Amino acid sequence: MTLLKPFLAAGLCGAVLLGLGSVASDMSATAATADETIKARQAKMKELGGHLKAIRGLIGSGGAAEIQERAAAVKAIGDEMPAWFPDGTLIGDAGVTVETEALQTISEKRAGFDQIAAAMSMESVKLAEAAQGGDPAAIGAQFGAMAKASCGACHEVYRVKK
Ligand code: HEC
Repeated sequence: MTLLKPFLAAGLCGAVLLGLGSVASDMSATAATADETIKARQAKMKELGGHLKAIRGLIGSGGAAEIQERAAAVKAIGDEMPAWFPDGTLIGDAGVTVETEALQTISEKRAGFDQIAAAMSMESVKLAEAAQGGDPAAIGAQFGAMAKASCGACHEVYRVKK
C-alpha cells in the first residue's frame, strides 16, 4: 500500500488544485479507500499495456534505447504490483463499489501471484539485455517469453476471463 500512496496523493493534490474543495478532507486520510486503490492500479495496468504495445512496435525498427527504457518501466511495475492488490480490494469485498476484475484467487493464492509479478520483473530485465544486444529475433523471442510468463500467466488465473 505504501507504494501506491505517492501517486494517489498526487491525484488528490491535483483535484484540490482544481478547486474540488470536498476532496481536501480526504487529504488527512491515512489509507486509500478500496475504490481508490482499484482505480489507481487499473490506471497503472493500462500504462503497462501501453508499454507492451509500444515495445512490440519497436522490435525490428531499431528502437533499442526506448525498448530498454520501457522494459525498465515494466520491471518497476512488476516490483510494485504485489502491493496494489491488498485484501479488501478484490471482487466481492465489502467497500468495493467500482468495477474490478481482480479475483479472490489473489488473496487465496497470494504466493503464486507475487511469484508471477516477480517473473515479470525478471523477464523484463532479460528483455532490456536482449535490446542492448540488438538482435531483433532475440528481442522478439524475449518479448514473447516475458508476455507469456507475466501478462498471460497472471490474467489466466487471477483476473476475470472476458
Ligand atoms: C501478477 C498478476 C498480473 C500480471 C503479471 C499482469 N497483470 Fe494485468 N491485470 C491483473 C489483474 C488482477 C487485473 C484486474 C485489475 C482490476 O480490475 O482491479 C489486470 C488488469 C489489466 C488491464 C486492464 C486495466 C483496466 O482496468 O483498464 C490491462 C490492460 C492489463 N492488466 C495489462 C497487463 C499487461 C500488458 C501485462 C504484462 C506486461 C499484465 N497486465 C501483467 C493481473 C496481472
